[in-house]
Amino acid sequence: MELPEDIDDDTVADVADRHGTPTYVTSAATVRDRFDRLRDAFPDARIQYAAKANTNPRILRLLRERGAALDTVSLGEVVAGERAGFGGDEMMYTSYAPSPDELAEVVDRGVLVNVDSAGQMETVLEAGADRVGVRVNPGVGAGHSDEVVTGGKGARFGVSPDEAAALFERAVGAGADPACLHAHIGSGFTEPEPLVRATERLCEVVGDLPVTPEYVDIGGGLGVPYREGEEPLDVAALGEQVRDAFNVDATLVVEPGRYLVAESTVLVTRVNTVGDGVVGVDAGFNVLLRPAMYDAYHAVTNLSRDFPVAEYDIAGPICESGDYLAHGREIAKPREGDLLAFQTTGAYGFVMASRYNSRPLPAEVLIDDGIELIRERETVEEQFRNVKLD
Ligand code: LLP
Repeated sequence: MELPEDIDDDTVADVADRHGTPTYVTSAATVRDRFDRLRDAFPDARIQYAAKANTNPRILRLLRERGAALDTVSLGEVVAGERAGFGGDEMMYTSYAPSPDELAEVVDRGVLVNVDSAGQMETVLEAGADRVGVRVNPGVGAGHSDEVVTGGKGARFGVSPDEAAALFERAVGAGADPACLHAHIGSGFTEPEPLVRATERLCEVVGDLPVTPEYVDIGGGLGVPYREGEEPLDVAALGEQVRDAFNVDATLVVEPGRYLVAESTVLVTRVNTVGDGVVGVDAGFNVLLRPAMYDAYHAVTNLSRDFPVAEYDIAGPICESGDYLAHGREIAKPREGDLLAFQTTGAYGFVMASRYNSRPLPAEVLIDDGIELIRERETVEEQFRNVKLD
């Protein structure tokens, strides 16, 4: 699998020398390229990057400079957005079961909240919101695994179309503008069909609302190829079909996270142990959780040598038998000290990292005008900064 733009074996070796491992290395050019492809596919839409995929404010800033708005799920993401220069009116907030205090904070910052319950609507109105959105379950769900399907039967996200109409009425009655109808069907689908169907359904729902909102947000979920030879989602075709289905007088909002950032990044990790058919590296599920959590596949290459090739399982340093980043991969026979690169790790990589086993959070580097450290590696001591011993 090809490395992201402007990243080659030497760049990665240089990053590892200067900043150590494990480190996430992101290509700014690839992020811009994916944004531009999406812009071409959805020329009139508001492209609202879902910050949860990668919240590094430098990456948020880069996307903002390209013209992205921001979807957030927590106060933390709103603050990350502010740090990157997003104004309240450039952000939306769509969360499940947030606390009333957090909702009030977010409203205060001028961010439009998409509520998904009557209780949330009351909290947001009480907090003085003059605009509010409603998240609806469009009855369609899709995703790379059950854990990430958020629409359709049995999903806990979003209200029914009837309740959405009632919540719109409630907002109007309270003198607020119901400015958005929102839906998100799930994450990582690779065919246009489910999102097109959800768009059709959303437009029908809009027809039954007391007022047409300024925005109709069809959510994100656009998948990317993780394996060599996997067909990418045809975003141009998706854009065309969604635009054909979109027959209401509102601004279309698309809200992808993964699509914009996943392919921009490699995780660089160093080999510490080589055994019989298994190699131990310095990144485990504390650094890249997706393989352990979803059985997700990330392509891996040995950047330090090309041959001879053999099959290996790749294990992390966490003291659990399940700590593998990959199984049965053909890679150039590693030696201790070699650098391995895990691909397509820009989405749900760093953001899902933890301090399990008291290993500090990894570093992040941006390749744009040269190599730039955009998040220092946490130190061992920093992990304990909030601990009270007396
Ligand atoms: N909008 C909402 C309301 C969402 O909940 C999500 C993702 C997105 C947009 C963006 O979805 P995307 O375009 O990135 O697929 N940790 C999982 C993915 C969880 C996605 C959760 N919601 C993974 O690593 O695959």
